[in-house]
Amino acid sequence: MPMIFPFPVAVAAALFAAAALAPRHASALTRHDFPEGFVFGAGTSAYQVEGAAAEDGRKPSIWDTFTHQGHSSDGSTADVSADQYHHYKEDVKLMHKMGLDAYRFSISWPRLIPAGRGQINPKGLEYYNNLIDELILHGIQPHVTIYHFDLPQVLQDEYGGLLSPRFIDDYTAYANVCFKSFGDRVKHWVTVNEPNIEPIGGYDNGSQPPRRCSYPFGADCAEGNSSTEPYMAAHHLLLAHASAVSLYREKYKAAQGGQIGITLLGWWHEPATDTPQDAAAAVRMNDFHIGWSVLLLSTGSCIRWYMETTLR
Ligand SMILES: *[C@@H]1O[C@H](CO)[C@@H](O)[C@H](O)[C@H]1NC(C)=O
Ligand SMILES: *[C@@H]1O[C@H](CO)[C@@H](O)[C@H](O)[C@H]1NC(C)=O
Repeated sequence: MPMIFPFPVAVAAALFAAAALAPRHASALTRHDFPEGFVFGAGTSAYQVEGAAAEDGRKPSIWDTFTHQGHSSDGSTADVSADQYHHYKEDVKLMHKMGLDAYRFSISWPRLIPAGRGQINPKGLEYYNNLIDELILHGIQPHVTIYHFDLPQVLQDEYGGLLSPRFIDDYTAYANVCFKSFGDRVKHWVTVNEPNIEPIGGYDNGSQPPRRCSYPFGADCAEGNSSTEPYMAAHHLLLAHASAVSLYREKYKAAQGGQIGITLLGWWHEPATDTPQDAAAAVRMNDFHIGWSVLLLSTGSCIRWYMETTLR
């Protein structure tokens, strides 16, 4: 099912890094070439693998809307996809056979809380409880992404989704449900997936939902402003991350003892030549792709161009 959206495989990245240090034929690499405690895993996102898009109370996310309007690159939807919702037991068996230490998956917000806020869907709760239990039964650590691009459509319609600070409160309430329901067994949390990427696809070039962009940065969007909206969306995603981390540390960490973090996708750019112009261009490109998130996360401050553009 070629539903492509950028998916970070931190584990794979670490693997490549290690391979680069010790250049050998790949087949000669074994687990013993990795530091003790290195976690081998695989990852997915809910919309990519679950299927059961309209079953057991799940409501549409912005990705359902997008694919049903025919906007995915090959016209497909993920209504069925890998059907993990029905086949999770077989999938976990396969993971076990592969020798995975960890499985990173995301929770579908519109499956767990179909109206975006409020009522928990018991069938959604049951599914994630079952999946987590099955992983643990097979000795596989569940690494859970709370939000991976699949915003409930209802929140997009109500207040423009990531463009509104109201996203932060709804997201935090949703994260609270996740910590409370699954945190006894889940010890590795990712708050939001790639807050440096979702705004580019959704609000800059418009290639992903909710398809907002403006000329000349993106074509073919009915509405949007590529000069401002990507920064607003990213800002709210990062504040939502901070809010969930605070909540976890204050209310859950002591009792549950887990770790909480974030995923950023790093496209790394090197200067093409050793001219100062190319060196500056590479720095600027890295700032635009990953620096804006890392700086805010690590120092609480914003890159100057980002503040000038967005936070007036
Ligand atoms: C649009 O942005 C996404 C990242 O979110 C990227 O994967 C994709 O290649 C971009 N598309 C174009 C046409 O630039
Ligand atoms: C985007 O918003 C900025 C700031 O409000 C404005 O100057 C610019 O004209 C807008 N661009 C578009 C395409 O609407």
